[in-house]
Amino acid sequence: MYYDQMNKFTALAGKKILLGVCGSIAAYKSALLVRLLIKAGAEVRVIMTEAAPAFITPLTLSTLSKNEVITRFYNSDTQLWNNHVDLGLWADLFVIAPASGSVIARLANGICNDVLGATYLSARCPVFIAPAMDVDMWKHVSTQRNVRLLAKEAQDTIIPVGTGELASGLIGEGRMAEPEDICAFLNSALTNDTSSLPLKGKKVLITAGPTREALDPVRFISNRSSGKMGIALAEEAHTLGAEVVLVLGPTSHRPEHAAIQVVPVESAQDMYEACIQHWPDSDVMIGAAAVADYTPAQVSDKKIKKKEDDMSIALARTADIIASLGKTKAAHQMLIGFALETNDELKNAASKLKRKNLDLIVLNSLKDAGAGFQHDTNKITILDKNNKQQGFPLKSKRELATDIWQYALSLQ
Ligand code: C5P
Repeated sequence: MYYDQMNKFTALAGKKILLGVCGSIAAYKSALLVRLLIKAGAEVRVIMTEAAPAFITPLTLSTLSKNEVITRFYNSDTQLWNNHVDLGLWADLFVIAPASGSVIARLANGICNDVLGATYLSARCPVFIAPAMDVDMWKHVSTQRNVRLLAKEAQDTIIPVGTGELASGLIGEGRMAEPEDICAFLNSALTNDTSSLPLKGKKVLITAGPTREALDPVRFISNRSSGKMGIALAEEAHTLGAEVVLVLGPTSHRPEHAAIQVVPVESAQDMYEACIQHWPDSDVMIGAAAVADYTPAQVSDKKIKKKEDDMSIALARTADIIASLGKTKAAHQMLIGFALETNDELKNAASKLKRKNLDLIVLNSLKDAGAGFQHDTNKITILDKNNKQQGFPLKSKRELATDIWQYALSLQ
């Protein structure tokens, strides 16, 4: 009866699917999964862990997939090396079903002592993991941490487990998703059309965080910026489909999505050089960093000794990054700056917008409670090149990132 549903999985036709099968009782369902994938028009190759053949024979899966099943790096019959790099590059999708607790732990830690683990590290395609284990193993803090890491940091997709009777006789969460549900999951992941996202195909460059200006090998001048606003803008740009480069000053905060390219920098000069390099390829640039305006004119290569007298430090101007980029701004490029003002806020922000050749400036005032450095919230007013302005109430930086992008996109 499952085969009647095959027409539903049209996105799988012609796809090269690598199926990893682990040692779990749910491996008996892998036969049906292979059959469904083949029926949907996919090309299937199967890798088994060494524990898996105790649950289902390689012969069953090779017959159904019409391809040799791989369990070891080296095939002693053919004297051939099973190249995990080629396998990883071959696949359009890598599905690990069932994924046992042990294999999930190995994948989360990059352990590649078998073909499945090594192929996982080599694969460049999207990876889908269908866990299968007993309820207590599934609920264990270690498994949950490993699954979280695979989903959040490795960006793998976890196919939700089912609830019901388990092989142990216990009832609860941990059942592998049914083969038809796995096919439906893969099909909908492939048909999720992202081409209509407003920043699809666009490159976005963002600066965030403070800079650190060295006085000597021990000391530096810096500021209180956390980088949270710029990181939120980078996250939102990624969600809107952009390819994002985040030039990030010294801060412990990092974006969640691994796809955001982080360029860590220290000084204003480092940040300037990174931006100059990425600007020609960028469609939009947002300067959310709190860049030092001055840097010590001399950097001592030895720790400066204290003396009886007072001392003064000569400071030299740094380059204004967004003002420099504004001088070479092409018609298709958009430049967005921030202004943190304590007085004559609107007037100062408007003059900065003009002077730096910006399209839009985001003004935040230190006067507002909950706004500015370190906070998770901010209160902003946006001013644009058409002399329009809009104020926003106190909101989380993540919500404001959405507002800022929405405003920027309305200008295009
Ligand atoms: O002129 P002011 O420093 O107030 O301008 C703030 C804006 O300019 C922010 O967008 C900040 O990231 C950017 N900026 C910069 N390079 C500097 C100083 C500020 O890009 N050297």
